[in-house]
Amino acid sequence: MDASRRTPRQFRSAIVPAAGLGTRFLPATKAVPKELLPVVDTPGIELIAEEAAQAGADRMIVVTSPEKRGLATYFDEQPELENTLAQRGRFGLLEKVRNAAKLLDVGTVVQRRPLGLGHAVLQAESVLGADESAVAVLLPDDLVLPHGALDAMATVRERFGGSVLCAIEVPADEVSAYGVFDVAATGEPDVLRVRGMVEKPAPADAPSTFAAAGRYLLDRAIFGALRRITPGAGGELQLTDAVALLIAEGHPVHVVVHRGTRHDIGNPAGYLRAAIDFALQREEYADSLRGWLHERLNAR
Ligand code: G1P
Repeated sequence: MDASRRTPRQFRSAIVPAAGLGTRFLPATKAVPKELLPVVDTPGIELIAEEAAQAGADRMIVVTSPEKRGLATYFDEQPELENTLAQRGRFGLLEKVRNAAKLLDVGTVVQRRPLGLGHAVLQAESVLGADESAVAVLLPDDLVLPHGALDAMATVRERFGGSVLCAIEVPADEVSAYGVFDVAATGEPDVLRVRGMVEKPAPADAPSTFAAAGRYLLDRAIFGALRRITPGAGGELQLTDAVALLIAEGHPVHVVVHRGTRHDIGNPAGYLRAAIDFALQREEYADSLRGWLHERLNAR
């Protein structure tokens, strides 16, 4: 799927905030950044890079902490390994090993202190080109499937201008885990105008059950807004609050409602679901896994 052929390209850089400690995955994250944990055999961050590249990005800017600087080396070529695989005729594996480095350019910026998602995104501003009027942000905890949400968001930005986010409908008692939208109809199915946005509201205060799903196509104006917000939910600088500030100042913001699958791989329960979902789509694992799951569930 090549979005750039259908709509003029709205962005070329994808920011991927990946500076978190991965506390929900301790002890594994003592040694391995959570973005490198494999979904079946492929690290989550490679899946994110694939999605960004398919949507037209040619550069991924990974925001890391000082301790996780090594994260992006995953995208380097590995000549020795590649030679060995080639000599042994393991061409299927060779292709898999080479995939990450071929997707897009990968650079890092360091977030020195854990001051929140908004602060993480702000760190990437300094490496954007002067002509980049919008940027994509992909949260690596969220797998949004099938790919295509960013294409739909680019089409909406082309039509309405401003910024476009991805929304999913969540159960009312789960809203406090998300940024939640106050929305109005546009007349187009699954495209809503955003009147306001609030980070992690109590269920009673939530303006809707439409929640942010970790995909953002943000007008460059977001960086000015990120500099003007103060710490919000959890004492952190929230991307949600910068979006809310833009809306209050008259900047158009819309959401595309995603009706497909979304996995939260930032916690073990969601990660396991994603792994099973992906494995069930892989010919070499599907039959035996399905059989074993049936057996296991019936044996309860
Ligand atoms: C972040 C955002 C939130 C969004 C969520 C999606 O929260 O702040 O607005 O709904 O990602 O996964 P986090 O999950 O990092 O607490």
